[in-house]
Amino acid sequence: MAKKKLRVAFIGAGGIAGAHMRYLKDMEDVELVAASDVVAQSVESRCEEFGIGEAFTDYKKMLKSVKPDAVSVCTPNGLHAPCSIAALNAGAHVIVEKPLAMNAREGQKMLDAAKKNRRKLVIGFQYRYDSKTTFIKNAVDKGQMGKVLYARVHALRRRGIPNWGVFGRKDLQGGGPMIDIGVHALEMTHFVMGSPKPVAASGSTYTYLGDKKSDVVSQWPNWDYKTYTVEDLAVGMIRFDNGATLHLEASFAAHIEKNAWNFTIMGEKGGASWDPPGLFSDENNYMVNTEPNWLPNSDAFGAKMRNFVDHVLYNRPTMAPGAHGLMVQKMLDGIYESAAKGKEVTIK
Ligand SMILES: NC(=O)c1ccc[n+]([C@@H]2O[C@H](COP(=O)([O-])OP(=O)(O)OC[C@H]3O[C@@H](n4cnc5c(N)ncnc54)[C@H](O)[C@@H]3O)[C@@H](O)[C@H]2O)c1
Repeated sequence: MAKKKLRVAFIGAGGIAGAHMRYLKDMEDVELVAASDVVAQSVESRCEEFGIGEAFTDYKKMLKSVKPDAVSVCTPNGLHAPCSIAALNAGAHVIVEKPLAMNAREGQKMLDAAKKNRRKLVIGFQYRYDSKTTFIKNAVDKGQMGKVLYARVHALRRRGIPNWGVFGRKDLQGGGPMIDIGVHALEMTHFVMGSPKPVAASGSTYTYLGDKKSDVVSQWPNWDYKTYTVEDLAVGMIRFDNGATLHLEASFAAHIEKNAWNFTIMGEKGGASWDPPGLFSDENNYMVNTEPNWLPNSDAFGAKMRNFVDHVLYNRPTMAPGAHGLMVQKMLDGIYESAAKGKEVTIK
């Protein structure tokens, strides 16, 4: 008997949709049935590239006409909630790219729509599938750190303001580096810590460079500084209900020695760093650093796409449920709200 295939459609056919399509196309239990994008040329060329059945410029028409089993939402952040909710209401399971939404209010509506329609909602967090992350998560879960007290998280670019898409538009993205790249480092750290409940946030955001013309030679020059309304640098601190704290720094542009993409956790019995991966503990009266002899060169993005299909088709557990996306979103919201108010805020 022929294997059941998951019929997947796409909303948004830009950069990251190409990665979703590439991985899903190679899976024998998946069929790419349709894709939509407001830019006809983008969706048509993606459909040709990946042999996708039908191209649409209106995702609502696509959902109605194709009735996909699952939808991958790869639009700018401002459309994550309406597109995901429309797909869930049309009876499809959803994988939505990070961040979950523009804010937690929208994110909650997405979770409610999934529950109401009894469909699965997965957040496209891939860093938790990285073997460096699972190496540390395993040690935390086995109790090697004791109680995790503190995490220091970095997603810092010295000069890396995206010069494509709408990443400088607060109205379409919800924010800048904190919501765009801070979210990656935050999601993996929070996952390693056991996904504790955030209860308070404080933070500051600064815009000093992205909204001005710059002649500095960099990897991605000539971003659209005239429409740039997001922060260049954001810093924040989160308190959790178990007493742990987390400090996060994220930048598109910061005057630092070099880019930094890492987390360090400190516990009562041990600590760990993500890159290079290492565990720090006391053994036989000596302070010992442990590094893995070998880690698989994990394809975290491929693992996230495979896990989504396994979760939907075979009911296997997901490491990235929508609820985790919502907790991360509440932390991001809290940092932005605190920065606007100039004081610590409560996370509900
Ligand atoms: N997981 C990751 O590593 C990763 C990496 C990059 C981007 N992302 C996320 O993916 C999302 C998209 O980012 P991108 O880099 O692909 O941006 P992009 O600008 O390349 O693509 C977005 C696409 O959405 C389309 N679009 C806009 N409105 C639409 C609508 N109403 N219906 C259908 N399509 C519409 C745009 O025309 C564009 O083609 C963002 O939320 C971003 O945060 C995730």
